[in-house]
Amino acid sequence: MPGRFIALEGGEGVGKSTQGRLLAEALRAQGIEVVTTREPGGTAGAEAIRAMLLSNEGEGWGPRAESLLFAAARADHVEKLIRPALARGAWVVCDRYVDSSRAYQGGGGGLSDEDVMTLHRIGSKALVPDLTVLLAVAPDVTEQRLALRDGDSADRIGGRGPAYHARVSAAFQQFASAEPNRFAVVDAGGTTDAVHARIMAAISDRLA
Ligand code: TYD
Repeated sequence: MPGRFIALEGGEGVGKSTQGRLLAEALRAQGIEVVTTREPGGTAGAEAIRAMLLSNEGEGWGPRAESLLFAAARADHVEKLIRPALARGAWVVCDRYVDSSRAYQGGGGGLSDEDVMTLHRIGSKALVPDLTVLLAVAPDVTEQRLALRDGDSADRIGGRGPAYHARVSAAFQQFASAEPNRFAVVDAGGTTDAVHARIMAAISDRLA
């Protein structure tokens, strides 16, 4: 049986990486083979593109070039890591995936959703997760967590202004409402353990 593909999505500083780790540990404790990965990145080629996308060197990318680079990184990741893992029955837990391109380069950067999805079809044959967990928090909570995490050292995309990030969160919410079967919106407020329990409940509801 093919494995399951779970993506964790959300704005900056919502705790995706911690929650991804806890989720993977909990699934492994049930005897499931789990591959944890992240975007942009996950393979050598995609990590090289990540460095180009996120470094603060140079003059930066416009939304179109940025979208092509994210789609290229994803194509390598899907072909070399995600599809083979799913094919052998492993579960994949991925920190960000195509909905980040839709929200950041689309909602934030102004590219149409259709264009972002066209690049995804070309690059990754439109592979979508079985379940996308959207971690949602109030914007002021995010700002506090980010100040603690990044201080003055946010990356090129993380460091964009509040209006950009507000468009990103609104876009995520809109995608979740449009595809309620693929998305589970999880309140990311409260303790790490409380959020983990909410994610496990969403998964047993959807992927039982
Ligand atoms: P990362 O350090 O992984 O951020 P976070 O901890 O917030 O997940 O950096 C990834 C950055 O790249 C983040 O700002 C979101 C952005 N991004 C896009 O703009 N488009 C995409 O398709 C992906 C996968 C990420």
